[in-house]
Amino acid sequence: MPQRSVVEAQNPFREGLRIKESLEPCVMVIFGATGDLTHRKLLPALYNLALEHPLPAGFSVVAFARRPYTDETFRQQALDSINQYSRQKPVNPQVWESFAAGLHYLQSDFHNPTGYEQLNELLNKLDQERGTSGNRIFYLSTPPSQYPEIIQNLGAAGLNRNRKGWTRIIIEKPFGHDVASAHELNRQVGKVFKEEQIYRIDHYLGKETVQNILVFRLANGIFEPVWNRRYIDHVQITVAENLGLEGRGGYYEESGAIRDMIQNHMLQLMTLVAMEPPIAFDANSVRDEKVKVLHALQPLTGRDVLTNTIRAQYGPGWVGGREVPGYLQENGVSPTSMTETYVAIKTFIDNWRWAGVPFYLRTGKHLPKRVSEVAIQFKQAPLMIFKNSDAQGQVEPNVLTLRIQPDEGISLKFGAKVPGTDMQIRAVNMDFFYGSSFVREQPEAYERLLLDCMHGDSTLFTRRDEVEAAWVFVQGILDEWKSAPRETMHTYESGTWGPQAADEFIWREGRRWRRP
Ligand code: BG6
Repeated sequence: MPQRSVVEAQNPFREGLRIKESLEPCVMVIFGATGDLTHRKLLPALYNLALEHPLPAGFSVVAFARRPYTDETFRQQALDSINQYSRQKPVNPQVWESFAAGLHYLQSDFHNPTGYEQLNELLNKLDQERGTSGNRIFYLSTPPSQYPEIIQNLGAAGLNRNRKGWTRIIIEKPFGHDVASAHELNRQVGKVFKEEQIYRIDHYLGKETVQNILVFRLANGIFEPVWNRRYIDHVQITVAENLGLEGRGGYYEESGAIRDMIQNHMLQLMTLVAMEPPIAFDANSVRDEKVKVLHALQPLTGRDVLTNTIRAQYGPGWVGGREVPGYLQENGVSPTSMTETYVAIKTFIDNWRWAGVPFYLRTGKHLPKRVSEVAIQFKQAPLMIFKNSDAQGQVEPNVLTLRIQPDEGISLKFGAKVPGTDMQIRAVNMDFFYGSSFVREQPEAYERLLLDCMHGDSTLFTRRDEVEAAWVFVQGILDEWKSAPRETMHTYESGTWGPQAADEFIWREGRRWRRP
């Protein structure tokens, strides 16, 4: 692929991804390849890697799905996906041509053993023709109910191991529906694949700004000394979305905000903020520390659930200038649904670093804007000597905000003297913006994670014990909610910042939600 070197040379972004020229050629088999995730995320991510990074020559994709496509129709679909969703546009015809040559389609039902035999043959053929040397990644991107069957069939066909090369499996979220099903899925996949072959994906861990939480904390000497209960008053983690269900009513009804966002993305963010420094930046050292945070979460069970959580559904309203229906009027949603589209939780981490520091998590759909951030609010100065500094008798607390998306960056709010002859103090911000500091586009989370899997690096994937520990925390809440009366499900107008109950929930502690 001679054109690559030109593209690479022109593209400073390559510096943003870890380059190992020794990346071995492999085949990625995508189960559920005609689905939305493949269309919007996986194919555009792979194409961008082909464009900007030396995806090994011979890298191939086998799309395993039920629709009656041919290689050619799948390639056309892939081109449409890339044209629509690629970070880099327009499509580079030369790169596309060599990328497309590696795209193959295999039509089969997931339960049909013959399909897996055909897959085996095709993979052997690709090893010969494209030099993929027996290296395989199986990507499960089907509805989760199909995972066990696919895993079992891969094992039965002997595709879980390969004497010639390595075999890895990526499992999309949701990983289970509750503690029992997550445990059972772990057991089933563990019967067929070894833990080091299993990559449970949480795309939030692939976001640059999320990885930067650890760099910020641990590559700088000045923050870690204040990163504890002596200096921090509380932490707020917000993942707000202006989107609604996006046609996923059926899935969302079974999931709700707590399973869709808290169990995975938000608890992951929390572990990165709260974990102890690992002894090394490698998969097990990092995950050992993250899992300790999850184990130290104060369990929420029984009545505590209702005082420490707020759940709500969006009602009709306006979002982004568009009138939208309420959750109960959405397609695929039961008019008596008890599925939450908003959740706020107060939780504590029972360890020496964090004892007594509340962590407030909130997420919701149809909020006024899309924004994800972690805000660390520090305690006030122990004594305010500037007596007349502030008419309200209050100087605003210092807040360090890690903005995950959009406007990625970090800011620190502190008090400054207003110029003039009297002593007035006003809050100002010290800002770092990724965009202006690095002047380069960030890779999509999936690009980073797919590449890490090809490298055999599972640091940014969740381990078996981690996923189960996150479910244990969430399960206590789910159990109590199940028997709680209908009145505990609040509503909020679409396009607002959630139910009034959530404001009262934090006000009663003398705090307030940030308005990002
Ligand atoms: C997914 C959820 O995991 O994350 C979606 O299933 C949600 O409901 C999405 O919209 C948010 O991801 P991002 O990267 O857009 O913040």
